[in-house]
Amino acid sequence: MIKQFLNLGKQPIANGFLQKKDIETEYFFNLGVGFDDETKLVTQTEYVDPPLMFNDEYVYRGSMSKTMREHFKALSIKINPDCKVLEIGSNDGVFIKNFKTDKAISVEPCGNFAKETNAMGYTTYPEFWTQDLANRIDLKHGKQDIIFSANCICHIPDLDQTFKAVESLLSDHGTFIFEDPSLAEVINNNSYDQIYDEHPHVFSVIALDNLLQRNGLTITRVENQTVHGGSNRIFAKRIGATIDDTVESNKSYERILGLDQYKTFEKFADRVKQSKVDLLRILNGCKEEGKKVIAYGATSKSTTVFNYCGITPDLIEYITDTTPEKQDKLSPGMHIPVVKPEDKIDDSVEYAYLGAWNFAKEIKANEKDFIRRGGKFITHIPNVRLI
Ligand code: TYD
Repeated sequence: MIKQFLNLGKQPIANGFLQKKDIETEYFFNLGVGFDDETKLVTQTEYVDPPLMFNDEYVYRGSMSKTMREHFKALSIKINPDCKVLEIGSNDGVFIKNFKTDKAISVEPCGNFAKETNAMGYTTYPEFWTQDLANRIDLKHGKQDIIFSANCICHIPDLDQTFKAVESLLSDHGTFIFEDPSLAEVINNNSYDQIYDEHPHVFSVIALDNLLQRNGLTITRVENQTVHGGSNRIFAKRIGATIDDTVESNKSYERILGLDQYKTFEKFADRVKQSKVDLLRILNGCKEEGKKVIAYGATSKSTTVFNYCGITPDLIEYITDTTPEKQDKLSPGMHIPVVKPEDKIDDSVEYAYLGAWNFAKEIKANEKDFIRRGGKFITHIPNVRLI
């Protein structure tokens, strides 16, 4: 049974950057978050229909940051180049492009990105991951040695179907490698903004192992990653494979944090409410003093924060973002203008809310001038403060 612990209120499609003319028809849903007693999964109480989020107008590009390009390159060189690799959710090819086109296949339901990887020479199935698709890939390309997925499995409402389909397509000793934001890090960082329509689940290793095991797979290794505010890279194989120490050490750490207990999430919900009060206090203070505040990075995460806290262009004048598909549009729900960074992070900007706090290191290195002239970043991670 799923028991709700947090209500993040009325939320739009997190990556639904829009034009003024589309405001009237903008889609909203109620973002409730709960805990499943049986599997220990943290999951939304109502799922948004995937085609509303993942379609030909999808705007998130994995290759926009150097950190992510290097992260995927580093993993790819550890994989034997003779392996047959399938990627679920290949986005703009940021991972798959590290492999030869005759060894790797992509699955990507966002048609705009499926076209891009197809044009790069990778057979790309422009579809959602299903058992039917796995069966067709099996018939045409055979079993796969590596099935990889980054920041995608936590996007899929039906995890049982997803894992069953993966199990059916893996070669005998094949490995399913996937990575998503870690629930332990969300709790440690109070990063409630990891929860939005596209992230119906936030995974603990404990919950994942429960779900994988009921579908014929078992976690054999866990690697903690720093990307996306703290992620876990999970290695899973068929039940019976050798399991290394990282699995139990991660699970026991999660038990210490109480990730297997509802009451932990009730306390988290209290901290989230306080974060909202503290962030509004800083932004309202800036407004009263006539300071110019912008946001840095039009992230999905900031869609959750802005809509939960009710942050309008009154408090944050505009958001800068390097993604061409987001520029000259309005942010979902709160309709803050998104602009190109080049001409907009000028001397008039005094405060910048870090929407892309997960890239703080890269951003600080890029924005030395802003910092030198006394510009301050505002963050809510792990608590609301100025940097
Ligand atoms: P990310 O944190 O991956 O977003 P999400 O919450 O949607 O998963 O995305 C970072 C966003 O910030 C992306 O739209 C690109 C943008 N960005 C900049 O504008 N400047 C930068 O220096 C960096 C690193 C990212």
